[in-house]
Amino acid sequence: MVEATEPRLRAVAAVPLAEPLCRLIEELEPRVQVVRDHSLVHPMRGPADWSGDPDHVRTPEQQRAFEEMVDSADALFGIPDVDPQALARTVRANPRLRWVMTTAAGGGAQIKAAGLDRAELDRIVFTTSAGVHGAPLAEFAVFGVLAGAKDLPRLQADQRERRWPERFTMRQIDEMTVLVVGLGGIGAECARAFHALGARVWGTTRTGTPVAGVDRLIPLDELVEAVAHVDAIVVTLPGTEQTHHLIGADVLAAVRPGAILASVGRGTVIDESALLQALDEGRISFAAMDVFEVEPLPAASALWSHPRVLISPHTAALSTKEEERIARRFAADATRLLDGSPLHAVVDTVEFY
Ligand SMILES: NC(=O)c1ccc[n+]([C@@H]2O[C@H](COP(=O)([O-])OP(=O)(O)OC[C@H]3O[C@@H](n4cnc5c(N)ncnc54)[C@H](OP(=O)(O)O)[C@@H]3O)[C@@H](O)[C@H]2O)c1
Repeated sequence: MVEATEPRLRAVAAVPLAEPLCRLIEELEPRVQVVRDHSLVHPMRGPADWSGDPDHVRTPEQQRAFEEMVDSADALFGIPDVDPQALARTVRANPRLRWVMTTAAGGGAQIKAAGLDRAELDRIVFTTSAGVHGAPLAEFAVFGVLAGAKDLPRLQADQRERRWPERFTMRQIDEMTVLVVGLGGIGAECARAFHALGARVWGTTRTGTPVAGVDRLIPLDELVEAVAHVDAIVVTLPGTEQTHHLIGADVLAAVRPGAILASVGRGTVIDESALLQALDEGRISFAAMDVFEVEPLPAASALWSHPRVLISPHTAALSTKEEERIARRFAADATRLLDGSPLHAVVDTVEFY
């Protein structure tokens, strides 16, 4: 007889996971043994720095020990060193590997980059941390839409000049229709937040499944018609071949003039050249962006100096609780795996998100 508390899942921390969080996972799911050696992983430089310090180099012996540890896993917490090639190596070296959870929410792209074949992709369940970042990103989306609604650039320009202008009107969220593009973990939180502030919320869907707080579901092929009727657009989609430049010249030409944009999913979803044109023509009055087509945003990008753009360097999801949230997600999914239940945020290994 196997004791209920006897470890039944050997989970290796393949990225720097703080000791208290290793223990937390083992407390939350005692059937999991978290195998870790903190001396073998690259140390974090800040919160949720899962790839760790690039200046930290393993000796050949340490590298061998790290690979042996990783290759002994039933499950991996994180892709080794957040390196798709290291993932491919261990998938091939370790036939017992059953589950890999990426620490990134957009980890589908990393799985794709590993270049695994169909049999390897089908043998292992890959999950991401998608869903754990919903609350902070919904706050950023609210912050961005508010900044546009209250005309933050105008306020800051007047303040810089010590200028007291004629009074001007500000827009109110509770008078707005907000379109949330993508209703996954982040989109659902955005819908909840804008609904709570009194906005009418529309959301795009492929499945048609109702989402709390969404007043109207918009089939994706009606996006161009829909944007003509909304005051703000919040883009939360992942970056895939299918979503690439989904918010392109056609959508941006159709928006209601003065619409506000917030971008918190993946930068590749928005065609930045088309966005700059829409900003210059006043069709988009303000864009609050946490994600960009190329990151870091190149110094030459016109977005940097655009007076109606707020740039956040892909940092809006980062919170002091992020590592703990991801550890809790891992523990919850370990329980599901051991109980034969479906896991959260399973990577679609066709579209890779
Ligand atoms: N700013 C940041 O720091 C940050 C943090 C976390 C995540 N992200 C990014 O945000 C993305 C979304 O995160 P999430 O947690 O919301 O992920 P999620 O829960 O997996 O949701 C993704 C949503 O995108 C939809 N979708 C996927 N492909 C689509 C397509 N071709 N057309 C239309 N809809 C499509 C999915 O629709 P179905 O339900 O129909 O499949 C799902 O609703 C992540 O992939 C990541 O790249 C950014």
